[in-house]
Order: sequence, then C-alpha cells, then structure tokens
Amino acid sequence: MPKLKLPKPPLPDSLKPTPQPPGNGNGKQSLKEKTIEGGTEAGIHVVDWVDERTSLSGGLRWAMFRHVPKGTNWFYTLGSATLFAFLNQAVTGVFLATYYDPNPSRAYESIRYVTNEAFLGELVRGMHKWGSTLMVILIFLHMGRTFFFGAYKYPRELNWVIGVVLLVLTMAMSFTGYLLPFDQRSYWATIVGVNINGTGPIVGPFLSDFLRAGPDFGATTLSRFYAIHMLLIPGALIALIGAHLYLVAKLGTTAPPWLKAQERDELRGEEV
Ligand code: HEM
Repeated sequence: MPKLKLPKPPLPDSLKPTPQPPGNGNGKQSLKEKTIEGGTEAGIHVVDWVDERTSLSGGLRWAMFRHVPKGTNWFYTLGSATLFAFLNQAVTGVFLATYYDPNPSRAYESIRYVTNEAFLGELVRGMHKWGSTLMVILIFLHMGRTFFFGAYKYPRELNWVIGVVLLVLTMAMSFTGYLLPFDQRSYWATIVGVNINGTGPIVGPFLSDFLRAGPDFGATTLSRFYAIHMLLIPGALIALIGAHLYLVAKLGTTAPPWLKAQERDELRGEEV
C-alpha cells in the first residue's frame, strides 16, 4: 500500500507577519504602532532563528500531526493523564528536595518543617503524596485500556514491554518514597517490604541487600532509598517515557476493537 503523507498543516495566523500599510494614512507609523509591530515580529524572529539552526519544527510537526483512527474516546486520554501525574511528581518532588534531609536524625524533622512551616509546603507535599497514588491508579487504568483495546499486539509489542517496565518502576518509586518521611509507620512498613523482596527466588537476597545497603537496616538505607527515589528511577522513567512516546508517535494509535471488526467485514466483502 503506498504510504500516505499528511499535507503540511498551515502556519497559524498569529505566526504570519501581516504586511500593514505604514502609519494611519499619512505614510508614517506612530511610536505605538512601531512598538506593537516590532514586538509581534520579535517573537516570529526568535522562533525562526531557533528553527533555522535546529529544524525543530519538522520534528514537532512529525510528532503532533498524525492520523488518528475514528472512534477514539476518553479512554485514550489515560496515557496522557499518567504523563501529567508523572510531571506533577517531578515538579513537586524538586521543591520537596530543596528542604528534605536524608539523614536519619533529621529526615522526619525536615518533612515536619515542610508540612507545618514552609510557605505552601503542606500543599506541595500533599500534591506529591496524593499524586503518587493517583499516578498508580492512572497507570493501571491506562494499562487496562491498552490491554482491552488489543493495543499490545503487533506492531506495538515493544511499547507494551516498555510499559511493563514503566509500571514496575512506578511501583518502585512508591516503595522507595514511602520510607522518606522516616516515621514509625514508614520505617516498619519498609522493613516488611524489604523482607518480602528478600524471599524472591535467586535474586531476592541480593535485592534486599541492595535495598538495605548492607546486611542491616541502618542509616545508609535511607540515603540509598533517597538516591534510588530521586536519581536512579526518575532517570530511567524519563528515558523510557521518551521511548514510549516515540513509539506512540511512530506507530500511531490503535483503532478501537469494534472498529477493526467492521473493517474486516468490509475487506471480506471485497474478497468475495
Ligand atoms: C509512566 C507511565 C506511562 C506513561 C506516561 C504512558 C504514556 C502513554 C501515552 C501518552 C500514550 C498515547 C495515548 C494513549 O494511548 O493513552 C501511551 C500509549 C500506550 N501505552 Fe503507555 N504510558 C505509561 C505506561 C504504560 C503501561 C504500564 C503500559 C502497559 C503495560 C503501556 C502501554 C501502552 C501501549 C501499548 C500504548 C499504545 C496504545 C495504542 O496504540 O492505542 N503504557 N502511553
């Protein structure tokens, strides 16, 4: 089948320089008119300047203007909702990291300070804490959507596998983040969690040793969890989300299963 090429979308009017007759009839532009025109053109010049040196607009058009099958519905927004939840975690996490101290004797106090004293600290901490729960709910709903719509099938198997890794990493984010307030509940719950990991076959004991940062649950465990929570896993998540979205843009979105059934009927009709 010949590959369909989308026509280039027109530039929005706001980006087109409009040739205006100079001045208000007497051939001269007032200072106000000059400033407005200069301001409008400046934006276009900046975009042009960057584009001429990077050709970014080509990539943007490739990613943004795609064929979308008929029948897509609200369930298709769950991936973007998960992405939004992730971005919320990233932004609020950066703010929390500016106050957090991963030292066992100061961790709890630093979180208490954020919650009770820092400006809007309680809000930001609440957004991070509840956002993590929301992200877990959304990622499962998104996975359910892709499963029930058959989006894991050829040619999207690799995107499904990347998705499974994203799911595991998201759960690992929740697990490592839970210890950070370092109160009684998070401390004992994490000991239980690490011990459960230790019961896994073959890799279990290595995994729990790695998480504890040694044979015992001690001061180094907290900094290990913090490093995993704010450096190791976010880095992997960003890279894998990038690959996931690249594949979504490259392969396009799956049509809803009921639409496929209709197409197959049509094809069968042609064959006869
Ligand atoms: C951080 C987590 C994730 C993010 C940010 C994310 C983001 C997205 C986005 C924005 C889309 C395109 C819109 C849509 O179809 O909803 C998508 C599609 C897809 N995702 Fe995810 N996703 C994540 C996790 C997962 C998981 C856990 C799975 C499955 C195990 C998965 C499997 C897929 C598949 C197969 C598609 C293609 C859907 C289609 O072609 O119709 N994703 N993802």
